[in-house]
Amino acid sequence: MEYLLALVLLVSMCYAKVEVEEESFFPEYIHPCNFTDDDFEKCVKEQIEESLPYFAKGIPEYSVPSIDPVDLNDIVIDGNGLKLKFSDTKMHGLAGLKLTDLKIQLGGDNESFTLSLKGNLSLTAQYNADGRILILPIKGEGDAFINCYNIEVNISSNLTHVKGKDDKEHLKLLAPKYKYDIESTTFDLKNLFNGNKKLAETTLQFANENWSQLMDDLAPPVVKQIVKTIVKTINKFLSKVTIPRIIIGYKERL
Ligand SMILES: *[C@@H]1O[C@H](CO)[C@@H](O)[C@H](O)[C@H]1NC(C)=O
Ligand SMILES: *[C@@H]1O[C@H](CO)[C@@H](O)[C@H](O)[C@H]1NC(C)=O
Ligand SMILES: *[C@@H]1O[C@H](CO)[C@@H](O)[C@H](O)[C@H]1NC(C)=O
Ligand SMILES: *[C@@H]1O[C@H](CO)[C@@H](O)[C@H](O)[C@H]1NC(C)=O
Ligand SMILES: *[C@@H]1O[C@H](CO)[C@@H](O)[C@H](O)[C@H]1NC(C)=O
Ligand SMILES: *[C@@H]1O[C@H](CO)[C@@H](O)[C@H](O)[C@H]1NC(C)=O
Repeated sequence: MEYLLALVLLVSMCYAKVEVEEESFFPEYIHPCNFTDDDFEKCVKEQIEESLPYFAKGIPEYSVPSIDPVDLNDIVIDGNGLKLKFSDTKMHGLAGLKLTDLKIQLGGDNESFTLSLKGNLSLTAQYNADGRILILPIKGEGDAFINCYNIEVNISSNLTHVKGKDDKEHLKLLAPKYKYDIESTTFDLKNLFNGNKKLAETTLQFANENWSQLMDDLAPPVVKQIVKTIVKTINKFLSKVTIPRIIIGYKERL
């Protein structure tokens, strides 16, 4: 009996804790926008601009992990006579990207979300290269530093309504599509040709002057992971906040 009482107490305490968490306010940089206001879209844009650096650094209360830097999967290029692998790859700079455009369509049958981000990103990795880039031989392994200047990523995604673990209604980005553009890229691969400076210089200069051909192979897997990371982060957050909490005056559907 005593045991049962203790259990009941414990369970009700847990409930109380959940209630408190549910009632707790957002951090001061998150203000819900009013859907019925004319400047709803502008409000969301300002809200994202303001909270982007916090999201990039991670928000433990909402299970949002830090994404600056973010670990990328290994990138392997194998074709056209070149074997190139990047491992232990980290991307730096997501926190510094600027929101250049945002469109949000809510309320109709076709709810969607489009955002454009622009800025500089850099990659650090261990590389292993063997073969030729275009016409020059390349061989070596060591530290790699890649800087991408003015990379622009446009993500457009369907917005759906899902029932969360809390049995309440949440928004979720689904089936994102994206386009990207990069203004320029520089490569620095340490220890090429076992440290033979002359050979290394020629190959690196060639790679840097012909960066766009190299990026044709390198950028798609990187940008894919950028988009995946951003969408996953937004969805993590959305899964923790119910629709009425994040958007004022918007009707739930489920
Ligand atoms: C939302 O905006 C509408 C129209 O501007 C207004 O009537 C309503 O009071 C606002 N709601 C809140 C919670 O601010
Ligand atoms: C995204 O929305 C469009 C337009 O409503 C629709 O045709 C498409 O099937 C949707 N995609 C998914 C995966 O729901
Ligand atoms: C749905 O919205 C997307 C993004 O705004 C648009 O590209 C698409 O054409 C729309 N589809 C329909 C069926 O309205
Ligand atoms: C990107 O890098 C360039 C060159 O270093 C610099 O001039 C520019 O200010 C950087 N842009 C941003 C948004 O930090
Ligand atoms: C991204 O969207 C912006 C604003 O709509 C547009 O100006 C730009 O051309 C787009 N870039 C790409 C790579 O699609
Ligand atoms: C870049 O590639 C072109 C064509 O493959 C080549 O003619 C040019 O010399 C390369 N640039 C450098 C700096 O090697």
